Amino acid sequence: MSRRARFAAALAVVTLGATIAATIPAQAAGSTLKDAAAQSGRYFGTAIAGFKLSDSTYSSIANREFNMITAENEMKMDATEPSQNNFNFSSGDQILNWAVQNGKRVRGHALAWHSQQPSWMQGMSGSALRSAMLNHVTKVAEHYKGKVYAWDVVNEAFDDSNGGRRDSNLQRTGNDWIEAAFKAARAADPNAKLCYNDYNTDNWTWAKTQGVYNMVKDFKARGVPIDCVGFQSHFNAQSAYNSNYRTTLSSFAALGVEVQITELDIEGSGSQQADTYRRVVEDCLAVKACTGITVWGVRDSDSWRSYGTPLLFDNNGGKKAAYTSVLNALNAADPTDPTTDPTQDPTDDPTQDPTDDPTDDPTDPETTNPPDPTGKCSAALTIVNSWPGGYQATVTVKAGSSSINGWRVTLPSSVNTNNLWNGVLSGGVVTNAPYNGSVGAGQSTTFGFVGNGSAPGAGNLTCA
Ligand code: G3I
Repeated sequence: MSRRARFAAALAVVTLGATIAATIPAQAAGSTLKDAAAQSGRYFGTAIAGFKLSDSTYSSIANREFNMITAENEMKMDATEPSQNNFNFSSGDQILNWAVQNGKRVRGHALAWHSQQPSWMQGMSGSALRSAMLNHVTKVAEHYKGKVYAWDVVNEAFDDSNGGRRDSNLQRTGNDWIEAAFKAARAADPNAKLCYNDYNTDNWTWAKTQGVYNMVKDFKARGVPIDCVGFQSHFNAQSAYNSNYRTTLSSFAALGVEVQITELDIEGSGSQQADTYRRVVEDCLAVKACTGITVWGVRDSDSWRSYGTPLLFDNNGGKKAAYTSVLNALNAADPTDPTTDPTQDPTDDPTQDPTDDPTDDPTDPETTNPPDPTGKCSAALTIVNSWPGGYQATVTVKAGSSSINGWRVTLPSSVNTNNLWNGVLSGGVVTNAPYNGSVGAGQSTTFGFVGNGSAPGAGNLTCA
């Protein structure tokens, strides 16, 4: 072949290569949940019950689809310390070994919890219980040292309705029991991520969510070792998915912790269920610090709530519409998408997005309108939710007959807040954030905050 012919052939190969490269998407779609999640650097996990691993349908789906494993019951207090200071890791190790042999990581669940305590612990109190709890945390974390990615150090320690701590034998040992558990876990396994894990903390307006948020904020401020917050996300009619879930995830992330969806299941069926799953996945993908999603079981029949058919595989192991919806949502994640940009404003509140879901409750107080302004602008304060010692408020700012470029709202003098979004607070006056100062004539924007103490009366505020 002449030099000219060789050059022409080489050019043809290069050109063909370039053409192929141009037509192949940067990311090939993942065909399993774990591969699809990995495209944006996230994991996709499930809870495993050790006694089911001999069921080949169960174990083959689990192996094929998931790369993060949580022991559904086998690493809990009753399983690992059946009599005081006699530890039994056989069931937990079975799951850990299966995970490791199949190239998966493990989330440890759970070191300290008021529930599923061994019977010897249930009757204990005071300093004896505190010591026993710390010994348990230490010994279990030491056994799994270097082998687990993360631990749910403390599980479900908050009351369901008032935003305070749940009463339990552990809580009665003193309010510092949670931080004591975290410090013991850090000492025992310095490389495991240490998480607080709870349910009914998904809705940003709920008192329980705010209670946990304030604890994590306090822990970060005082240097208590906490790396992550787990949102169990058991969704059903009583605890429904709300579009402010993304606000919850991003608000916690803004405290400097990883957020993880740890026990996801969504009761329902068909497109309704599939759509809610999609939204949950999209919310996680929109928050850089949301590092992974775990569903609480493999098939519907494996669920603790099997009657609600809440999982991604049917009783026969077939993929449900919800599965396809999750897979597609994960594959749609673009690593270069600005929504996954770590420089995103974590305090941005998507519930204030005008493109918000029209299925949102139309009675939602965030939609309250201030009066028509007679001057530059007007503002109206709405109390979204309140609980003993705190409340959440939204303020709607409306431009007058001319568009405005910047606004200032004076808060009632009683307002005491250190958690405000979509605005900048200084000396009792909130000015617009960099992105929401321009408001068209007659249009409105909102900001919100969580206040300490009693809520002020709803009503009009001074806007200038
Ligand atoms: O293993 C025994 C069996 O020998 C016995 O015959 C049978 C009789 O009831 O009980 C079996 O133990 C059950 C165990 O699950 C294993 O299936 C327990 O009774 C039952 O209480 C236990 O339920 C677990 C539950 O936690 C306990 O609180 C569920 O499997 C487990 O999915 C669930 O997981 C929790 C998370 O840890 C924390 N978040 C909520 C989530 C759902 O409740």
